[in-house]
Amino acid sequence: PKKTTIARIADLRASNIPISVLTAYDFPTARACSAHPVDITLVGDSLAQVCLGYPSTTRLSLDEMLHHCRAVARGTSTPLLVADMPFGTYAPGPTDAVRAAVRLVHQGHVEAVKLEGGEEIIPHISALTQIGIPVMAHIGLLPQRSTALSGYRVQGRTAASANALVRAARALENAGAFAIVLEAMPSQLGEYITRTLTIPTIGIGAGPATSGQVLVWDDMLGTWHGHKAKFVRHFADVRKEVERGVATYVHAVKDRSFPNAEREGYAIDPTEWASFL
Ligand code: KIV
Ligand code: NA
Repeated sequence: PKKTTIARIADLRASNIPISVLTAYDFPTARACSAHPVDITLVGDSLAQVCLGYPSTTRLSLDEMLHHCRAVARGTSTPLLVADMPFGTYAPGPTDAVRAAVRLVHQGHVEAVKLEGGEEIIPHISALTQIGIPVMAHIGLLPQRSTALSGYRVQGRTAASANALVRAARALENAGAFAIVLEAMPSQLGEYITRTLTIPTIGIGAGPATSGQVLVWDDMLGTWHGHKAKFVRHFADVRKEVERGVATYVHAVKDRSFPNAEREGYAIDPTEWASFL
């Protein structure tokens, strides 16, 4: 497979081939995304919860994000590499957004950035795209605002809210976003926004008609112990395998069945051993 470019993402949408996006937070997950290649690897700020144990993405710093981006970049070959801009790194204004995004490119080795928000971040997106940093937009459920929004709720369930999301999606496309994540909204609205726009939509809980899908690595593999949102499907039960492995290992150490002297041990030539003794 060839390196995913921005043009390739547009081509997939034009050809009606669904775009696969998966998050990664470290070198091995990046390698897995590259080996069975997804189109886009996203260093999501879900990193905060699923890898670092924070209660919310708002706790994640830019330095923490950069540390993980570098590890993911080292394991990434063909997928387009996108990183979330952490909470607070772009809201102050377009200049701050450019400064933080340039660090993500320089020091995090990512190719594009993702920002949560609607019309209020149009100037930020314009500033980034003008200097050549591709931007993925993100509307609907905005985890960075979950406190202000009183939790993680499905968006666009009233006519007024659906209207606001359609307006935001159009404005973000016009500002130059190359794609847009639609999170937690009715399937009908996901389809409507996808038909309204020319850029690809990447859905998570936005129904089957979006141009692509994204899931969090730990949700997709079932490694995660937390709440399972309705839109999550487990494509493996890694948690069960991990539990089985750890418990079996501990048991084998305790009953001395691990290691086996022959199978898992090294030997010394008997005459060498005799002269040592
Ligand atoms: O942080 C994240 O993982 C995300 C995706 C789920 C879209 O933003
Ligand atoms: Na995110």
